[in-house]
Amino acid sequence: MKTAITELFGIQHPIIQGGMHYVGFAELAAAVSNAGGLGIITGLTQRTPELLAKEIARCRDMTDKPFGVNLTFLPSFTAPPYPEYIAAIREGGVRIVETAGRSPEQYMPALKAAGIKVIHKCTSVRHSLKAEKIGCDAVSVDGFECGGHPGEDDIPNMILLPRAADELKIPFVASGGMADARSLVAALAMGAAGMNMGTRFIATKEAPVHPNVKKALVDATELDTRLVMRALRNTERVLKNKGVDQLIEIEREKGGALKIEDIHEQVSGVYPKVMVDGDMEAGAWSCGMVVGLINDVPTVKELIDRIMSEAEQIIRSRLTGFLNGVEVKPPARAVA
Ligand SMILES: Cc1cc2nc3c(=O)[nH]c(=O)nc-3n(C[C@H](O)[C@H](O)[C@H](O)COP(=O)(O)O)c2cc1C
Repeated sequence: MKTAITELFGIQHPIIQGGMHYVGFAELAAAVSNAGGLGIITGLTQRTPELLAKEIARCRDMTDKPFGVNLTFLPSFTAPPYPEYIAAIREGGVRIVETAGRSPEQYMPALKAAGIKVIHKCTSVRHSLKAEKIGCDAVSVDGFECGGHPGEDDIPNMILLPRAADELKIPFVASGGMADARSLVAALAMGAAGMNMGTRFIATKEAPVHPNVKKALVDATELDTRLVMRALRNTERVLKNKGVDQLIEIEREKGGALKIEDIHEQVSGVYPKVMVDGDMEAGAWSCGMVVGLINDVPTVKELIDRIMSEAEQIIRSRLTGFLNGVEVKPPARAVA
C-alpha cells in the first residue's frame, strides 16, 4: 500500500508505533520498523541525552529500516535538555521525530537544519493547523479515544479525522482507537494517510514490558479506561486499577482545588512499577479504549501482516462488493 505517509517516511506500510513511556525501547521500535511500519523510541524514557544516543545505537544494531524518536514537550518547571536530546537524535542519524505535548515551534529550526522530518501529535484541528504552519511535515491526529493525553476538547476520531482532512494540506495519520484492518481502512476513508497505534503495540511479543501488562490488556474491555487529572487540564486516559480508584476518590474530594501534589503517589514513578515490576494496581498509566479490541499477543510482524492483508480483503472484497451489489462479510476477529 502506498500513501503520502509511506512515501514521506520511506516505509512499506502506513502504520506508526507512537512513542510510549517505558514501552518505546529499541526492541519494540526495531520490531515495528523491521515489519515495515515506523517504530519510534521514546526519547524521554532515556533519562539523559547520552542514554538516548545509546538506545538509538542499539536500535540501529537491530534494524536497517527507518525509525524515529518521540520528543514529548512537557509542561514542567525544569525542562529536560531538549537541545541536547535533539543533538543525540541528529548525531545518531535519525531523520524522523514524533513531537507531542506543547508546540515544537522553538525547536523546529534545529530539527529542520538536521534534515529531520517532524510529525507532531495533535488532539485538535487548530493545533494541527498550527503544526502545519510552523513547518511540520505531517501530523498524528489523536482522538478522544486515545491512550495518554487526549486534550480537553473530547472530540472522537469519527468527527476529528474528517475535520482534519477538510482543513489540512500536509498528510496526517489517525491516532487513538486504532487496532486492526478495520481501523486502518476507516481511517483511510476519513482522509488519513495511515494510522498510529499505541496501546495495541504493547500487547505484542516484542514489547519489552512485564507479562502482567500484556495480560491486563487482553483481559480488559472498552469499559475499563478512566479519564484522570481533568481538573489540572492535563487529562489522561488510563487503565482502571486500585491506584486509579484512589486517585479518582481524591479528585472527587478536592474538586476544582485539586493540586498535582494531592495525587503524587498515584501518578508519579508509576511506569517502572507497572512496566518493569508488573504491579498492575500501582496507579495511573496510559491506556486507550481500544483495549476492548485487544484479544491476543501476536508478534509485531504477525500483527502488521494481519492488518495489511485484512485491509486488502476489506477494500477489494467487502467495499468493492457493495459497489457490485454483493455483500461480503468483514474478516472474522483474528486471534493469532
Ligand atoms: C503506555 C502509554 C504511554 C504513552 N506515552 C507517551 C509518551 O511518552 N509520549 C507521547 O507523545 N505519547 C505517549 N503515548 C500516546 C501514544 O503515543 C499514542 O498517541 C496513543 O497511545 C494512541 O492511542 P491508542 O492507545 O488508542 O492507540 C502513550 C500511550 C500509552 C498507551
